[in-house]
Amino acid sequence: MNKDVLIKMEAEKKYPLEIKDVPPEEQAEVHKYLTNAKPDYIRMGSTGYFFPDGLKEICNKIYNMEVRPNDVFVVTFPKSGTTWVQELVWLIGNDLDYKTASNVQLFQRFPFLEFTMVLRSPKINKWLGERVETDPKLRPFYESFTRNSRSDATIFKAPSPRFIKSHLPFSLLPPTLLDTAKVVYVARDPRDAAVSYYHHCRMMLLHGFGGDFRAFWNLFINNKVDYTPYEAHIKEAWEKRHHPNMLFLFYEELSKDLPAAVRRVSQFLNKPVTEEQVMRLCDHLHFDNFRKNMSVNMDIFKHIGLINKDDHFIRKGKAGGWRDYFDEEMTQQAERWMKEKLGDTVQFPICKI
Ligand code: A3P
Repeated sequence: MNKDVLIKMEAEKKYPLEIKDVPPEEQAEVHKYLTNAKPDYIRMGSTGYFFPDGLKEICNKIYNMEVRPNDVFVVTFPKSGTTWVQELVWLIGNDLDYKTASNVQLFQRFPFLEFTMVLRSPKINKWLGERVETDPKLRPFYESFTRNSRSDATIFKAPSPRFIKSHLPFSLLPPTLLDTAKVVYVARDPRDAAVSYYHHCRMMLLHGFGGDFRAFWNLFINNKVDYTPYEAHIKEAWEKRHHPNMLFLFYEELSKDLPAAVRRVSQFLNKPVTEEQVMRLCDHLHFDNFRKNMSVNMDIFKHIGLINKDDHFIRKGKAGGWRDYFDEEMTQQAERWMKEKLGDTVQFPICKI
């Protein structure tokens, strides 16, 4: 059968997971902190993962997408070091092609599978459309999105080898994923991920979070932040950590011993590297260099106002930096929460800062 017909048939398969609208009073708990667009929210699957409603439009296409044996996915809960690991994986997977890495933006080399979900949310789309009227520098982004509203479809059709980023938990990704392609999953201490996510939601125009960290943390542990519940996301991946197509990494282990993480990735992708190459790559990935690297640091989005110009996507880069945001009471509460939700299942490497 013709390949296009097969792809179409796949895409038309019925979505087997449950999608529920979030009740208005629960949405209001989030909306009260949002200074810009206030999207409607949904809960996905039996776990009830929290998402803006734009995901409804693409979840089925993603679930039924054709996965190829030479695809490489980086999957994480947001703010767990995705960008860092994407660059590492892309360079190892592309024979250390630093030239292309510096000339082509990482988000083009390694696209974000469900990126369009935010702009597909009708209320966010409408808000941005109105904002474009008063802020013309946003227009090219808005229009290119409208023209390329199928940017996920571009990923589906991209030539191999594909490198794909996703924050979706395994249960929302294609069921064939791990038996077909390679997946690098990165986990980070939820307290650091939450602090990083809080800054992210403040600096990104399309999130526009206006509350303080305490408010954000409360939403986070009550599963009212995109992609939560955190513990379900990480446990789904942890259960699969021994699968031969899976490499489970911790942000904390990269922080502690980056050369060792580089060697693990090179072994996993069957791309041998010399010690000299490991050292050069570690230098390239070092926080100070990474932050200045225009093809990964997202500064490109500052020029159009999608990111506040005084903020940094590559922000602090610390394991354990959460301590500056949690008072004694929050620290204890977070410890209890982690014990209850993660127990002894996921063992984070101990990090001292
Ligand atoms: P902080 O906000 O705590 O600094 P993601 O790429 O998943 O959005 O994760 C972003 C987090 O990874 C940010 O954390 C960012 O600073 C950190 N990060 C990115 N590159 C890094 C690097 N080279 N070294 C250490 N941390 C890095």
